[in-house]
Amino acid sequence: MLILGVETSCDETAVAVVEDGCKIRSNLIMSQVDRHRRFGGVVPELAARCHLEAITPLLEAALREAGVRPQEIGLVAATYGPGLIGGLLVGLSLAKALSLAWNVPFVGVNHVEGHIYANFLAHPGLTPPLLCLTVSGGHTNLIYMAEHGVYQVLGETRDDAAGEAFDKVARVLGLGYPGGPAVDRLAREGKPEITLVQQDRLAGTYDFSFSGLKTAVVNLVHRLEQKGEPVPAADLAASFQGQVVSTLMERTWRAVEAYQVNTLALSGGVAANSELRARFTEEAARRGVNLYYPPLDLCTDNAAMVAACGYFRWRKEGPSPLDLAAAPRLRLT
Ligand code: KG4
Ligand code: ZN
Repeated sequence: MLILGVETSCDETAVAVVEDGCKIRSNLIMSQVDRHRRFGGVVPELAARCHLEAITPLLEAALREAGVRPQEIGLVAATYGPGLIGGLLVGLSLAKALSLAWNVPFVGVNHVEGHIYANFLAHPGLTPPLLCLTVSGGHTNLIYMAEHGVYQVLGETRDDAAGEAFDKVARVLGLGYPGGPAVDRLAREGKPEITLVQQDRLAGTYDFSFSGLKTAVVNLVHRLEQKGEPVPAADLAASFQGQVVSTLMERTWRAVEAYQVNTLALSGGVAANSELRARFTEEAARRGVNLYYPPLDLCTDNAAMVAACGYFRWRKEGPSPLDLAAAPRLRLT
């Protein structure tokens, strides 16, 4: 079966065609990063307008690139939350309209669940049960996946998502937007020797907090600038990144032990981070745990993951109703 996936929850307009939930026929992404850069972050209203401009040409291009005619599509899947309401409405409305026009079922996809499915696309042999760490600009979740569609969220962020903290630290270091890749690059030139926060106030839980760490960087930079002293940007990037990865590692490996899983998957934009990948890979080898993460283009937002997830959802539960509402604060249950 051919599935059309649509993703518009944040600042990437994306349309993909996926075969049987695992084979990518086309996966097109129109990034709005250049339109938001001068504002230092995503402007929701602008994002919605950009999605509206981009979505129809992208749909045509995705079908063309896949070599597929509309009549061959058997299922239309779109993200219905969590995300920015204006953007979600654009993708969701398109998917519902196509479902009616093409007379095929429609299925709504949870964006966070979609990120997990990037791993099933990249590694077709992968099967639950597994533990998944989803770290993106909007989410930081440690999830136990018992089987397809069955999740237990063990921990989540109490304040900033990991990617959000990366973006804010990048901004104060003058690295521009989006900040994660820039911090990642700069960190390679620095020493991770600056202690930014003394204690882990959520120790013993599976929850995360990155706002204290981010604020420590921001305050330190402002203090140095006020005193006219140089800012050790590379050392700060390395120290910040190192501490984020250490926290993610500590929670995740403790959960791997507690839930006795032998399979760990990473997903979301921050899973593209080179230090995170290297340290998780090393620890997985040491423990004999199977570690999976998607290639870089499937880590960040894309529609192939939405199509893959939609396929498994539809097989398990059938189609979603056409009056399914956009859910900006949708949670994974
Ligand atoms: O998954 P994603 O594309 O969108 C959301 O669902 O949020 O993630 C985007 C986030 C941004 O915050 C970006 O700075 C971060 O992922 N990111 C990275 C890296 N590449 C992207 N963070 C750290 N290191 C990277 N290499
Ligand atoms: Zn995402």
